[in-house]
Amino acid sequence: MVRLDPDKLPRHVAIIMDGNGRWAKARLLNRVLGHEEGANSVREVVRCCMELAIPFLTLYAFSKENWKRPAGEIRALWELLRRFIQSELPELVAREIRVIHLGDTEGIPHEVLQELQTAVDATAAFDRLTVGLAINYGGRQEIARAARLFAMDVLNGKRQSADLTPQLLSRYLFTGEFPEVDLLIRTGGERRVSNFLLWQLAYTELYFTNVLWPDFREPQFLEALTDYQQRERRFGRTGEQVRAETQPAKLVDERTVEPLENTGFTH
Ligand code: IPE
Ligand code: IPE
Ligand code: MG
Repeated sequence: MVRLDPDKLPRHVAIIMDGNGRWAKARLLNRVLGHEEGANSVREVVRCCMELAIPFLTLYAFSKENWKRPAGEIRALWELLRRFIQSELPELVAREIRVIHLGDTEGIPHEVLQELQTAVDATAAFDRLTVGLAINYGGRQEIARAARLFAMDVLNGKRQSADLTPQLLSRYLFTGEFPEVDLLIRTGGERRVSNFLLWQLAYTELYFTNVLWPDFREPQFLEALTDYQQRERRFGRTGEQVRAETQPAKLVDERTVEPLENTGFTH
């Protein structure tokens, strides 16, 4: 029986959902069926976050590098994403879940972008759970884009170059309004970050499991959370200091959540 401390739950969990292809291959199925089954894991993890009142969940669904895959698999992935977003929307609205897109819109097939935009717009007012969908996303591309947006604000006189601090740069990222990522989970056995949330992972707790994404359900998610709760987050301090404090330790430059006018799903 898993026992979680409700006061020590992460506020923001990010997941690299890996292993769909291998799950399918082990069953002599087409890789695409692994992605289909993976969609059920997404539903279950979202439900768990709702039940546990974890307010932010970011899911890596399609990376910039995934464009290198065979055309047939890319097509199937987009079709699955489109169908998934479309079919889940009523449920998302009913449960007051907000959807945010992290990534570049350019390159995403029109029909997928349309569903995504519809979901983002229809759920914009909700805040019980925010689900960030990283689609056509790359961490380096995101940082370069943030630098570009900041440079534009300097050019048009809204900011001065000396204003740039880590906190301010954070606000130009797709995750501008999200709190720090407390826990990163990667399923599928690889121990790498594959261009995911490079900036945001500065002090994140990393959890790697060999479980393949389609097999990652409530028990596995609770196991990851239990593991997280056993860790001591020191943020540079000593263990003695951390244990003597009444407030939990924090990353020094944790930002205040104040959205910029210019970011969000408007590009
Ligand atoms: C992750 O599963 C899903 C996406 C990248 C879209 P994979 O398709 O990478 O599965 P494996 O790693 O080949 O098993
Ligand atoms: C990372 O998985 C991307 C997503 C889960 C969307 P990959 O399977 O594409 O990662 P690599 O190529 O093995 O690093
Ligand atoms: Mg993979």
